[in-house]
Amino acid sequence: MKILRTLFENNKQWAAKLTAADPDFFRELSRQQSPQYLWLGCSDSRVPATQLVGLSPGDMFEHRNVANVVGHTDLNCLSVMQYAVEVLRVRHIIVCGHYGCGGVQAAYENRKFGLIDNWLRHVQDVAQKHAAVLAAIPDKTKRLRRLCELNVVEQVSNVCQTTVVEGAWASGQELAVHGWVYDLEDGLLRDLGVCVTCEEESAGAYEAAVAQAGTVCRVGEE
Ligand code: CO
Repeated sequence: MKILRTLFENNKQWAAKLTAADPDFFRELSRQQSPQYLWLGCSDSRVPATQLVGLSPGDMFEHRNVANVVGHTDLNCLSVMQYAVEVLRVRHIIVCGHYGCGGVQAAYENRKFGLIDNWLRHVQDVAQKHAAVLAAIPDKTKRLRRLCELNVVEQVSNVCQTTVVEGAWASGQELAVHGWVYDLEDGLLRDLGVCVTCEEESAGAYEAAVAQAGTVCRVGEE
């Protein structure tokens, strides 16, 4: 119980596999990282960020919390974002939610789990803001899926209004903010069509994404 042997065994095999494919892989990666992407996602164990987009160590900077929330005063999330944008100079920030999110569901049903209820107030704010849209969806599963999407749209809007992103755009830095949702049931990503590349696009992209009726299609499926 004191040593998680299986995980160490797995780790040895994983490192050996990568080293076999590229003997310099870890040596080169240890010298520097230059990821293109910052991933802001849910902590859910079924949404392994780097894996599900087929990227390797070094490719993506990550911050995950329950229900992929970007709080206005969350210094943890904001610090990750600042370092990623200003120091690593990532080109893309991806906010990725997922259908079947336990955090979103708990928030919507006002379930009580303790301390985390306070965190999920952020998602309840989203549900309250879009109460009319949600109330018009009779099927509960679809309503929750829509709330997962709307939560992403709101968090994209929050990202766009941080000092970090506004500052990057003001200085002419190329930076795109994306809103995606992942489906646990088929392992596929959906793009919510809320990509923002400058301050002027932000409000329009938000309005369009909120106005979108129902849940979205997979990329290439439209
Ligand atoms: Co989740």
